Amino acid sequence: MTQVSETNGVLTIGGAEVPALAKEFGTPLFIMDRGQIEENIRAYKSAMDSAYDGHGLVHYASKAFCTKEMCRIAKEEGIGLDVVSGGELYTALSVSFPPEHICFHGNNKSMEEMQYAISAGVGHIVADSEEELDILDSLMEGNTKTRILLRIKPGIEAHTHDFIQTGQEDSKFGVSLKSGDALRVLSKTYQNFEIKGVHCHIGSQIFEDEPFMVAADLMIKLMADVYEKTGRYMEDVNLGGGFGIRYTETDLPRPYHDAMLATISAVKKASEKYGVPYPFLIVEPGRSIVGEAGTTVYTVGTVKDIPGIRKYVSVDGGMADNPRFIMYDAEYNALLPERPEAAREEKVTICGRCCESGDILIRDILMPKVQRGDLLAVLSTGAYNYSMASHYNRLPKPAVIMVKDGEAKLCVRRETYEDLVRFDL
Ligand SMILES: Cc1ncc(COP(=O)(O)O)c(C=O)c1O
Repeated sequence: MTQVSETNGVLTIGGAEVPALAKEFGTPLFIMDRGQIEENIRAYKSAMDSAYDGHGLVHYASKAFCTKEMCRIAKEEGIGLDVVSGGELYTALSVSFPPEHICFHGNNKSMEEMQYAISAGVGHIVADSEEELDILDSLMEGNTKTRILLRIKPGIEAHTHDFIQTGQEDSKFGVSLKSGDALRVLSKTYQNFEIKGVHCHIGSQIFEDEPFMVAADLMIKLMADVYEKTGRYMEDVNLGGGFGIRYTETDLPRPYHDAMLATISAVKKASEKYGVPYPFLIVEPGRSIVGEAGTTVYTVGTVKDIPGIRKYVSVDGGMADNPRFIMYDAEYNALLPERPEAAREEKVTICGRCCESGDILIRDILMPKVQRGDLLAVLSTGAYNYSMASHYNRLPKPAVIMVKDGEAKLCVRRETYEDLVRFDL
């Protein structure tokens, strides 16, 4: 939790003072509040355990923030992992994450990745197409550990930004429900596996319960239709992630425990309605586990006032550590760690140091007066920041620390110039 220190009025995260962390680890710096991550995981897990008798598993969507330490936390908390590449799988296995609790995704998995996932013994692979099911059939001979699911395009348009909608018909992900393709493909028989269930992911940053409830209903109806057509019960349903978080004060997420309860109740209701057994339920929250737990701390450099137009406050990072503004016009909040409660008296635009005019972190935000050398913290940067970071302009990636009970642990060291040329020949 970000709080203000009672002794000297500076920003604290996980009980540690942010200016001291910035001094010790340098800037830009990703600070992750470990206690908040654990709390978020437990909110989902306790709902699954209490309202669904644990007949399911929360999988953390590691694409949101994938490091060894994060995989260790998921392992210690007893949840599963959603991975989407050989690299994410390797990261999980490198900390001995139980493979049976890993679900492997992706709309274009390479042959090597599929072989890697199968030989590692992952619990689930979500096939994205009919073509991929055929390839998996050729690779799965003798494998009894990995359960195959099919990703379905449920045709739901969740209330979110266009570029992060993934459930609508015009999407590269999954097999269409509306066209009848999903039922046709799920009814097929394969030599080396039976399709055990369905998966869908309807988008991200969703605040309403209804899209998840509609998705649950559609998936369970589909499972019932498969039973009617083939006499085969599908056992697993994976409803993806997408629970919304608070980036700015206009974002009003409901408690994750409650969101999970609503999803569970929709799964139960639909199972009863369509006369199928309660399925094994998987959900895959990513952003809502780590997003609000992350803060990026920068140092202010040039402050440029263009009279009558705009005041730019430049920081020592930008789109290379947080490309979400340039990608999706994402909005954030910011404050000054050394004076978190100072009055916000001027409108500024916080920009990065990269050679792109669109390299902005926050456009038109009211901030206290800032000057070169001040620390500036952008909040809720735990998801899709470090994991989307690039080396644009050959900027070394920042360090990542986890903080809990006032103790900071370095979990990704800051890159050096030497790191940047490591692969150059
Ligand atoms: C298949 C799948 N599952 C889970 C997630 C996680 O979504 P979120 O981070 O919004 O919870 C995503 C995000 O893109 C996804 O594509």
